[in-house]
Amino acid sequence: MTRIPWWRNAVVYEIYVRSFADADGDGEGDLQGIRSRLGHLRDLGVDALWLTPFYRSPLADGGYDVADYRDVDPRFGTLDDFDALVADVHAHGLRLIVDIVPNHSSDRHPWFQEALAAPPGSPERARYIFRPGRPGERPGEEEPPNDWPSAFGGPAWTRVDDGADGAGGGEWYLHLYAREQPDFNWRNPEVHREFEDILRFWLDRGVDGFRIDVAAGLFKDESFCDLAGRDRRVSNGPIYSRPEVHEVYRRWRQILDGYDGDRMAIGEVWTDGPEDLALYLRPDELHQVFQFDLQLAPWSASAFRDVIDAAMKAVAPTGAAPTWVLSSHDSIRHLTRYEHPAGIPGTERARAKAALLLLLSLPGSAYLYQGEELGLPEVTDLPDEARQDPIFERTGGELAGRDGCRVPLPWSGEAEPFGFSPGGVRPWLPMPPEWAPMTVEAQASDPSSMLSWYREALALRRRLADDLPEDLEWLDSPGGTLYFRRGPLTCALNCGDNPVRLPSGTPLLTSIPLYGDLLPGNTAAWLRTP
Ligand code: BGC
Repeated sequence: MTRIPWWRNAVVYEIYVRSFADADGDGEGDLQGIRSRLGHLRDLGVDALWLTPFYRSPLADGGYDVADYRDVDPRFGTLDDFDALVADVHAHGLRLIVDIVPNHSSDRHPWFQEALAAPPGSPERARYIFRPGRPGERPGEEEPPNDWPSAFGGPAWTRVDDGADGAGGGEWYLHLYAREQPDFNWRNPEVHREFEDILRFWLDRGVDGFRIDVAAGLFKDESFCDLAGRDRRVSNGPIYSRPEVHEVYRRWRQILDGYDGDRMAIGEVWTDGPEDLALYLRPDELHQVFQFDLQLAPWSASAFRDVIDAAMKAVAPTGAAPTWVLSSHDSIRHLTRYEHPAGIPGTERARAKAALLLLLSLPGSAYLYQGEELGLPEVTDLPDEARQDPIFERTGGELAGRDGCRVPLPWSGEAEPFGFSPGGVRPWLPMPPEWAPMTVEAQASDPSSMLSWYREALALRRRLADDLPEDLEWLDSPGGTLYFRRGPLTCALNCGDNPVRLPSGTPLLTSIPLYGDLLPGNTAAWLRTP
């Protein structure tokens, strides 16, 4: 039998480092906190962990603004802590993926500081993207070099402060995200060398893979032409998925392949079509890309089916395995997204349980987001002054931003900080008092808890994994439902509100106790295929 590399059908658990577990008592999660909680992840039954950035950073965008790519931020620990974490993760039989942020650095990165201090046209400025502005409508006014928007609101350009000596030279710099995140100039070979070296730095320390942030954005069209109303994500438009980006990942693939142990890379690639995704998945490029459509789909059997078909079709030409996501640190938690439009209480929890069976029975790998195993909802009522996501500030409060899915995890106890931090410490985002019954401690010994459900489903998936083919076969099913088969496993999902007849097979796992051969609304079942 051919050996399947681990990442092809792995369940990967995303750790938002700042919010997972705080060992040193500063109210923010850290690497030692993760080490102390590895037992939870082993018991949960995931295969790998993905850590969001823990590098030196002013945290203007939660760490996606890196000031030193080869060091750990003191808030999160030290390089020694990292080495100890890698060793422990491996000793627990898990793999470790780290985030790499190549599109932009922090404005505190030494290169950007050097660029600001250097004149226009200098080699220091050539590591980033500086351009002169355009004349404004009125005399003496100046506008950004083009109309590109920042993904976080407002323009993607900030004018360099000229200072008293006029040293800024009147240039603007590009930042597709916050102004504290200047974009690198990937047309400069120095940037390539730097990132290749950074990859080796972490590979040498034993990481099993990388999650590549904004993977499609590195190259911009040299004309810097206006978007003029086009979607910023349109592939081969001025901003995303320029052909040159593929050379970079082919080189990175060679580096990964130079190490033993199935090292991998998964790209965060937002594109406007499946053809474009496939370009990243050539056998000599990235191993995987995130396929976000399940996360974007409403609670609807037909929407799910369309998404699944499209995702399978997108990877088919390359032979890559698909990836599935319901929640992440960038999106509204799916439990909250799945609230019943008529407000029927409890539906969101039933749906989240059912959605897990869908996620875990699809071919390919599943990416879970910390806290979904506890059934955490989005926190929608954070006070404005607590919010830290730059989206909130850059849209003048119009968009709440992503803090609501980043509230620290509740581990134990009856009140904040719920074991997240040592007692008496206030976590960096306030934790709702209603979370007392949702702690890991409260759920661990309750067989009806969401945590027990996740453990059970993950354990069964692991037991079945070797017998499941890498494709699926749709079965006829009543309206509002999805039935499909993967060899010995049949999955049935009822997205409607009314019961339907189950497909044939022996029930293996059901998200609610069954009555006869009926599958109630908003539930799912796994059956042994007859
Ligand atoms: C990350 C975000 C981050 C952005 C800029 C995204 O893809 O997932 O959390 O804000 O990149 O780095």
